[in-house]
Amino acid sequence: MENPLKLKRIHHVEFWVGNARQAAYYYRKGFGFSQVAYSGLETGQREQTSYALIQGKANIVLTTPMNASHPAADHIKKHGDGVRDIALEVEDADKAFADAVKRGAKPAMEPHDETDSHGTIRRAAVHTYGDTIHSLISYKDYKGPFLPGFAHSHIAGDDCGILRIDHIVGNVELGKMQHWADYYTNVFGFHRYITFDDKDISTEYSALMSIVMSDDSHSVKFPINEPAQARKKSQIEEYIDAYKGAGVQHIALQTKDVIHTVGKLQSNGLDFLRVPNAYYDELPSRVGSIDESIPALQKLGVLVDRDQEGYLLQIFSKPVEDRPTVFFEIIQRKGSRGFGKGNFKALFTAIEQEQALRGNL
Ligand code: FE2
Repeated sequence: MENPLKLKRIHHVEFWVGNARQAAYYYRKGFGFSQVAYSGLETGQREQTSYALIQGKANIVLTTPMNASHPAADHIKKHGDGVRDIALEVEDADKAFADAVKRGAKPAMEPHDETDSHGTIRRAAVHTYGDTIHSLISYKDYKGPFLPGFAHSHIAGDDCGILRIDHIVGNVELGKMQHWADYYTNVFGFHRYITFDDKDISTEYSALMSIVMSDDSHSVKFPINEPAQARKKSQIEEYIDAYKGAGVQHIALQTKDVIHTVGKLQSNGLDFLRVPNAYYDELPSRVGSIDESIPALQKLGVLVDRDQEGYLLQIFSKPVEDRPTVFFEIIQRKGSRGFGKGNFKALFTAIEQEQALRGNL
């Protein structure tokens, strides 16, 4: 098994946002994350304020700058709220950083200790697409609530059954997909897991291409999308126009009961994409027998796809900012390790309808 950087897991995803306090409320009340730790003025941190939230094994951090000279201020000015860091836990941050740079990654942060009364971690970072980075974190003796600098600050969320991050998708500029797929191969030792071309993912108007990059254990999967030429503007182009560059398009959160999870998220007020009802008329002949009731799936708008290994159930949120940028997917896997190829057409038609409403098609 090739794992040159001794990658263990996605440690957390950090968003840089305009108002972290309000964003934390949204992810607690909307998605059911629990707040576990806080870093800000009261903990001696004067430059930025951060909230760490957890549900299952999915960790997110929401950070806002406290002054205009903080790099997050420029990031927010350019991109709006968005993902800054897909932080990875590695065995040894110094070694992982040195190897990543040797293998072609651009350094973002030199290895250093981060310490508080709970202990120490080592941290470094490398750049990936756009202004996004991968922090590389390894533990020395840290035993605190989240990471050094964070104080315990617990506010329980109403858990919605989210288990872990399934995959994180990046949108990159036209012609750059292969470059970033090669980056994950060369730097992280990832392999090409699946490729989707514009014949798989096209509608009458717009198209995209995608390569799913995965580590050998298939626990970390980073699909990379680029727009494809078509009659009208690709959803990937709309994202890049709105985000002002490449960045994280969606974070897929895994659940073991999609009907329970999506039911809760919808009653919490989160908005999801809807496909036409005709989708459900064709569903039994397309996917065969499934455990879930089709009317229950239809009521929520959950999509189903089957491959040789089994099936999956998935649904996509609308963007969670005013700019049409980052959104979430909720996915339940029942044997399938795919990405819902059979749903692309219905889904992208639904996305185009939203794009048209925004005046961006
Ligand atoms: Fe996805």
